Amino acid sequence: MALYDVVIIGGGPGGYNAAIRAGQLGMKTAIVEGRGALGGTCLNAGCIPSKALLHASEVYEAAATGAHAALGVLGTPTLDLNAMMAQKEAQVATLSKGVEFLMKKNKADYLKGWGRIAGVGKVIVQADDGTERVLATKHIIIATGSVPTPLPGVAIDNGRVIDSTGALSLTTVPKSLIVIGAGVIGLELGSVWRRLGAEVTVVEYQDRILPGMDGEVATTLQRTLSKQGVNFRLGCKVAGASVDDDHVSLSLEAIAGGAAETLAADIVLVAVGRRPFTEGLGLESVGLVTDSHGQIANVHFKTGVDGVWVIGDVTAGPMLAHKAEDEAVACVELIAGKPGHVNYDVVPSVVYTRPEVAAVGRTEEQLKAEGVAYKTGKFPFAANSRAKINHEADGFVKVLVDASNDRVLGVHMVGPNVGDMISEYCLGMELSVTAEDVARTCHPHPTRTEALRQAAMAADGWAMQA
Ligand code: NAI
Repeated sequence: MALYDVVIIGGGPGGYNAAIRAGQLGMKTAIVEGRGALGGTCLNAGCIPSKALLHASEVYEAAATGAHAALGVLGTPTLDLNAMMAQKEAQVATLSKGVEFLMKKNKADYLKGWGRIAGVGKVIVQADDGTERVLATKHIIIATGSVPTPLPGVAIDNGRVIDSTGALSLTTVPKSLIVIGAGVIGLELGSVWRRLGAEVTVVEYQDRILPGMDGEVATTLQRTLSKQGVNFRLGCKVAGASVDDDHVSLSLEAIAGGAAETLAADIVLVAVGRRPFTEGLGLESVGLVTDSHGQIANVHFKTGVDGVWVIGDVTAGPMLAHKAEDEAVACVELIAGKPGHVNYDVVPSVVYTRPEVAAVGRTEEQLKAEGVAYKTGKFPFAANSRAKINHEADGFVKVLVDASNDRVLGVHMVGPNVGDMISEYCLGMELSVTAEDVARTCHPHPTRTEALRQAAMAADGWAMQA
């Protein structure tokens, strides 16, 4: 029996990046994945296919609704949903093969099957045909990710009541779609189907969308999505669902009280969060238990058991691919005896709606709660020439700066392409950037990045172009 240095359970962004780094550091590595393809939820049923559909539906809508006509481009497009889905699936398959190539390149063994821990230093891999293989290893990294959280009373049947995976592969555009949950998944996938022609209503328990993100950004995004035709029912709880041949009927209760009402649609998408995935993992074989959130706790990625490590969605922190990727590198480096570290203060979040939302660092709400004295610099995309000529001037950049030393503490943006642009501030914050540093850094003209600089200037009271 081969002795591995590290066996990684789970082939998502946490797992495959851990395998790459372990290979680079000369460790004998195996990565175990049961879904038949590498890349995890992110690549197979999350970030990547949703972005493929967001892009395709955006191109379709711009042409279909006359947004292109504003640019002098005329003609009415026809939607071929099968072709749109097929190109998405082709991209997903190619990228998954790319991850497989990276495993080979870094000499990590890709073992197909579901892995379970069977004691310290022991992992059993069960293939689809039921055959089992026993692996001996010095270290185990658990990177098993997360699955959609169920909503009591609204059972997913992947017919009329779907989860995010179902929403990525509908075969026809529903006339009406109710999305339960105004979080990242609900707003992104709700946007896709609205653009393709569905009447979309988003039902949210809280009295705002995107709980946890900057309130002003959320209000601006909600206003813009409403203008695009998304209906919002905030402060509402879904008490139950009934499904017939044509419709799903939801029983809706206002949190503030009052009589229940019924809301019906062709399809209901449940997007009320994700929960850690640990079923069948054999945690009990090493005496590990999950906490009240279903997570496996860690201290610097170490579980309570020597030689068993944990990264990504299955442990604490935001459920984001890039957070898992950073943890993968730090965890493997710690195993290799190097200093491994993740700066959780600089983990960006992006919502890929149109306009996009991007954020890093603390929100105004957090700074107020912590009693930190801060200054705010804001700049609207309406005053940015590039955004203006592209007809995408909704939104703003908001920079929050420590009043005592000018350091950037948080950045919150809603606007065109902000998901790409946030990286400038991520790098800056890693290097303890001040607003003045950004304000005095030359930015190319005409680009939307100039809004980042103008907002930094605004924090110090000298925005020049608004
Ligand atoms: P989420 O936690 O972002 O949002 C769930 C929403 O559902 C919340 O607003 C919550 O208040 C609401 N909710 C919960 N129970 C409800 C109920 N009974 N009735 C009505 N509303 C209810 O979860 P989401 O959108 O499912 O995403 C799951 C995870 O995946 C998140 O951690 C997210 O960050 C991650 N993700 C990240 C993406 C990105 O980075 N662009 C894209 C998609 C997912």
